[in-house]
Amino acid sequence: MCGIVGYIGDRNTQSVLIEGLKKLEYRGYDSAGVAIYTEEGLEVKKAKGRLSILEGELSNRPLVGSIGIGHTRWATHGEPSDVNSHPHIDNSSKFSVVHNGIIENYIELKEQLSAKGHRFVSETDTEVIAHLIADVYDGDIVKAVQTAVKSMRGAFALGVLTEYEPDRLVAVRQASPLIIGIGENENFIGSDIPAILEYTRNVYILNDGEMALLTKDAIQLMTLEGNFITKEVFRVDWDIVTAEKAGFDHFMLKEIYEQPKAYRDTMGSRISEDANEVVLPELNLTAEQLMNVTNIHIVACGTAYHAGLVGKHVIEKLTRIPVDVDVASEYRYRAPIILPSTLVIVVSQSGETADTLAALREAKRNGAHVLAITNVVGSSVAREADDVIVTWAGPEIAVASTKAYTSQLIAFFLFGVFYAQTLGKTDATEVATVIEDLQQLSSQVEQMLHQSARIKTYAEEISAHDHLFFIGRGLDYAVALEGSLKLKEISYIHSEAYPAGELKHGTLALIEPGIPVIALATQEELLEKTISNIKEVKARGAKVLAIAMEGNAEIGKAVDEVFYIPRTRAVLSAALSVIPLQLLAYYASLARGNDVDKPRNLAKSVTVE
Ligand code: AGP
Repeated sequence: MCGIVGYIGDRNTQSVLIEGLKKLEYRGYDSAGVAIYTEEGLEVKKAKGRLSILEGELSNRPLVGSIGIGHTRWATHGEPSDVNSHPHIDNSSKFSVVHNGIIENYIELKEQLSAKGHRFVSETDTEVIAHLIADVYDGDIVKAVQTAVKSMRGAFALGVLTEYEPDRLVAVRQASPLIIGIGENENFIGSDIPAILEYTRNVYILNDGEMALLTKDAIQLMTLEGNFITKEVFRVDWDIVTAEKAGFDHFMLKEIYEQPKAYRDTMGSRISEDANEVVLPELNLTAEQLMNVTNIHIVACGTAYHAGLVGKHVIEKLTRIPVDVDVASEYRYRAPIILPSTLVIVVSQSGETADTLAALREAKRNGAHVLAITNVVGSSVAREADDVIVTWAGPEIAVASTKAYTSQLIAFFLFGVFYAQTLGKTDATEVATVIEDLQQLSSQVEQMLHQSARIKTYAEEISAHDHLFFIGRGLDYAVALEGSLKLKEISYIHSEAYPAGELKHGTLALIEPGIPVIALATQEELLEKTISNIKEVKARGAKVLAIAMEGNAEIGKAVDEVFYIPRTRAVLSAALSVIPLQLLAYYASLARGNDVDKPRNLAKSVTVE
């Protein structure tokens, strides 16, 4: 996955492109590049590494022009290098292309074009697009792009520029996100809204199979077959400052501290005024349809998958409807049994994760009703699902997901209660007390954030270790998995999460004197068992930090240190117990001198399979 941006208008094109790419760096940062039409013709500048390197090079010799395209890359085909960076050009250097996605048949296309005399310089799939367009160009760039895409298979969002028509910018969307920013005497393209938000709040969201021709003062929308279409303008009402760091050292820390607000916003108007009911007016699912659901599949990737594991516990506990949770990249290949009565819930912060989107499509093909839990209104997942619960966490920029995860948990809590109400599985008094506990969560998180200094000290201690373990039972195990992923992805400390009772079946062999073990022990009905498992690792010399529910003095005797979370009902505990684990990962990464917001080898949004 990569980020693309494009501009036509009277501003400083180079700076619009660079500023736009800064907002898109979360999508990839292996290299960056721009192509601008200047007095010299179509000029391309690109560089391996962070955007700042390109920016430095451009400051020595700025490119001046009023039309350009830019790209920030997350390498798929071909290693990160100058030559593999975008924009790519054809042999005449008259056509340039930026691309997000994968051209599946690029080898075949490359062979055909090579036979016609085209010479390729990079290892990328994208380069074939520039050559293809050049090959079929006959004086009209729109027609050339339409002809070229006919022979391309795969996922592509494109920005295309030719020196022959320096007043026209072409944008294409096929299975990779792309939006068009509408300005006055200027227009924009971007992979995502933050890229252009500084300049306009009015956008068109392209659908798959659609394209646009941008001139300075007009935008023509059409299908890839060339049929003109009209679209509603989408008005963006969130603030650019929401996407900035607001005084925090890193986006991740800012986003951790935004969680109380994200909890409140996600609950928002979904709790009735008298606080007796959960209401989800946005759902198309009727009560009758819900009552006919026989089973649920939750499908997602990474952190969103971990939210799904918590969702399973919550839904099963409240409704007794069976729930399976699948990693999206596995789902469609295991030929899942999807019945017409199966409800499929896909979870995705970005709403653009390729595997999650493919799972959604597989579910729909099999006739299931699909409910999406996503943070991005207008994302592919949101648009293709039958129903959407938006998590109002606001833009999440750090690669490591925090507020999106906890907002997904809130969405599952709300859905679980709503579903139980619909099935008549809980009485009104019970619903009211769950809602009361739900409403407490945001201030309880605030309370915990005040104690972050303790976690920081502990994180600095463990940052010297190369391996550690997370253990827990039931819901605590689901949270242990998320704590372990968070630590791995930003601190690069190897960690593993285990169901506490499973250690003795092999993993206990890895416990050595001094190894840190983080034991989640918030589930009081399982506490005795978890304490036995803690004793097993203590006996082998492990140093144990427990995360337990306030008022549980007993655990203190069994471990080296305890971090208490405020008291809440067991089923909601994940929304609190994950907070110290997020802080732990953040401070351990900081102590190791890592780039917290942009961990190596990773990108925020994974839009390739
Ligand atoms: C989270 O910290 C990860 N960076 C990653 O696992 C992420 O949750 C996953 O890629 C899914 O993304 P999505 O929610 O945007 O679909």
